[in-house]
Amino acid sequence: MPPVLSVHRIIAVGVAVFFVLLLLFSAFHQGVTPIQTLKDTANSAAERICTSGSDHDAPLLGDVPFSQGIHSLYKSIRHSVTAKTYQDPTGRQFTLPDKEPAWTSPLGSKILIVDMDTRIPTGDNELWNPTTMDYASLDASKGGQMVSAAFMNHFLYSQIHGYDYKFFAAKSLKDHHDTWIKPHVLYDLLHSYQFVVFIDADATIQHLELPLEWLFNKWGIGHATTIAMPIDTEEVVNGDQHISTDSKGKVVLNTGFIVTQALPLAFEMLDAWRKCTTGARWKDCKQWATQWSHEQRAFSEYVRYDFNPHGNIVEIPCDDAMGFPGIVENNPRVISNCTGQFVRHQTIGKEATKTNAGNALMQSMAELMQKALIQEKARYWIADDKINIGSFLKIFQKRD
Ligand SMILES: *[C@@H]1O[C@H](CO)[C@@H](O)[C@H](O)[C@H]1NC(C)=O
Repeated sequence: MPPVLSVHRIIAVGVAVFFVLLLLFSAFHQGVTPIQTLKDTANSAAERICTSGSDHDAPLLGDVPFSQGIHSLYKSIRHSVTAKTYQDPTGRQFTLPDKEPAWTSPLGSKILIVDMDTRIPTGDNELWNPTTMDYASLDASKGGQMVSAAFMNHFLYSQIHGYDYKFFAAKSLKDHHDTWIKPHVLYDLLHSYQFVVFIDADATIQHLELPLEWLFNKWGIGHATTIAMPIDTEEVVNGDQHISTDSKGKVVLNTGFIVTQALPLAFEMLDAWRKCTTGARWKDCKQWATQWSHEQRAFSEYVRYDFNPHGNIVEIPCDDAMGFPGIVENNPRVISNCTGQFVRHQTIGKEATKTNAGNALMQSMAELMQKALIQEKARYWIADDKINIGSFLKIFQKRD
């Protein structure tokens, strides 16, 4: 029988209590809202006790749901919602605007990340098929396997930050292009959340540790924002320079990444958008039911002009949430250099979605391994003078 209170346990509890006191002190000292800090402190105290305990703690760990596990795993690299700057792995710095940030603490499950698609990934080597996926042979040039790579990325991102996640397995629409599901589903789900965020199946989050709330602060998504979308990449197709603009010549917003906030004006706007093709409000909208670019063009052609009384619609910079590195260099028809710094959107070369999702995951894993090893260097690192190989070799040589 192991002793109930081993020396290890007493030390672990002592360390945990010390950290609780230290964090409490620093939270009040800095005048920040201590609730999240307290939550984090409690979590980490629990982790310390669990991981230092003996075998009979194992069932406790087994009770931790997947989302809590992922949330704690990423604790060491999760970026603060209000940090003045963010430096990406290449060293490029991004700074919040010089004003009070609208969001100062994590919104957690008040945010929903929703995937919706008619390509339902239950086929061979796809995410929602219970047979174990073979990631190495995942072929993202095929729709179902591409959406699998992207949805893993979206789901993981939601779990890292405590957002809710849903996949809406959509049926095709009658007399409408499938992408018309977007305003309908957003309108419906927004009743249960403060924010609903939709990400296309060829788009991925590149910096998994960077929360949406930080991006909201960067983009100026505030308490009166009803909807935000990125400005589309501009293209020239067959000499036509106006392929990316509405009939007034203004560049359209791309519906590959949509942030909506539950405000009365947002519901009015989404309702008008989803009913656009009836022609009741905007007579000419019927054509966009089947003609490209469908719901995207309808939004930019009509909705944005009628539902933006106080700058409620936020246009996200193209470089932040459209395109990918090399888009201009490798595609002569693209004229705006949007490199997907935060949301990478493969409107061209969709099979790269797998590479983008893989790189984002491995980047975060590399950072986590670095942090874990370096923070506990004394535990994992043996200096070369700690093991006397030299004298052993001499003995060995002598015997020879
Ligand atoms: C596009 O932007 C990237 C980085 O944001 C830059 O490295 C590249 O040189 C740019 N390309 C062109 C053609 O301006």
